Amino acid sequence: MKIIPHKLAAVVYLALLLSCNAGKNIRQDQAAVSDKALKDCFSIPIGVAVGPYNLKGDEAAFILKQFNSLTPENAMKMGPIHPRPDRYNWRDADSIVDFAQRNGLRIRGHNLCWHNQAPGWFFTDSSGKAVSKEVLLRRLREHIQAVVGRYKGKIYAWDVVNEAISDKPDEYLRNSRWLQICGEDYIAKAFEYAHEADPDALLFYNDYNEISPIKREKMYRLVKGLKDAGIPITGIGLQGHWAINEPSKAQLDSTIGRFAGLGLTIQITELDISVYPKEHDARPRRPEDADTAFTPAREAKQAEVYRNCFEVFKKYRKQISGITFWNVSDRSSWLDDFPVRNRKDHPLLFDSNLKPKKALPAIAQYSW
Ligand code: GLA
Repeated sequence: MKIIPHKLAAVVYLALLLSCNAGKNIRQDQAAVSDKALKDCFSIPIGVAVGPYNLKGDEAAFILKQFNSLTPENAMKMGPIHPRPDRYNWRDADSIVDFAQRNGLRIRGHNLCWHNQAPGWFFTDSSGKAVSKEVLLRRLREHIQAVVGRYKGKIYAWDVVNEAISDKPDEYLRNSRWLQICGEDYIAKAFEYAHEADPDALLFYNDYNEISPIKREKMYRLVKGLKDAGIPITGIGLQGHWAINEPSKAQLDSTIGRFAGLGLTIQITELDISVYPKEHDARPRRPEDADTAFTPAREAKQAEVYRNCFEVFKKYRKQISGITFWNVSDRSSWLDDFPVRNRKDHPLLFDSNLKPKKALPAIAQYSW
């Protein structure tokens, strides 16, 4: 075809116009995606771990805009809520439940039985000797009845047993005081007691390091065993404490895929993505830990891991019934002190000024 000069100019102009408009549309779409509140991007509860201090000031309004489910970060754990045999400390837990009720948010209760933050009195008698299995199970039942009973109908899901599985490759269950005194039975019993206290609540087994194939198989064995034995477990909680170097899409896909056929609902219960490569144990600070700047490279890498996660979550959207982030924004995270004390991390979707980071539009493209 012969193209005469003024026609060529018109064609070039048209092509330029089209490409500019296409660019503009993409930018507009991205802006629309990132302006949308996080909770409005998904058709399942989108939660956040909070303490009472998060529920005032600018964070309160921010939480109401972005999230529609709360998990008490510490207030319902055994130690904080039941510090002595005859003393329950309801204040913080009540304030979170009241806030959620007033504002129409759901609540995931966390947690009823854990080796950590469990007060010593549970396991010992007045002379300091270990109690019998019978006494420990009675105490567990009374505790669960009191806590679940108080919030019956207000808390839709509970992490009943947290982190009962060992991280040691050749050990099945964690060698906790629960296991030492009761044997494996305490796990099933905790579910039975929780079901007795609120038959309508969803009941979860919750754990971390879920992408390790060894730990994942142990989790699978535990939850399948409970389900097959008729124990009232309804869900599996994958904590999702991840980092810029893990999980890969393949690791996450095989993890969620493994649990997807069990007939249990799956929730991501404690999601955050550290900007430092994953380390599993606390360690002393090193000189290189001083480099805590949230650089564009770190932001881009983190956005990519978040994106990958949500791509896989979307694939399993029939099985995944909730996603909770562990803390509100980069203003404050437990990772600021773990695994290295006083090393600032930036693991969440919003920065310290509560402004969206690149990770937000990255995940919003996988809305469902
Ligand atoms: C675990 C627990 C949470 C919280 C985090 C760290 O994942 O389940 O309650 O303590 O560790 O903050």
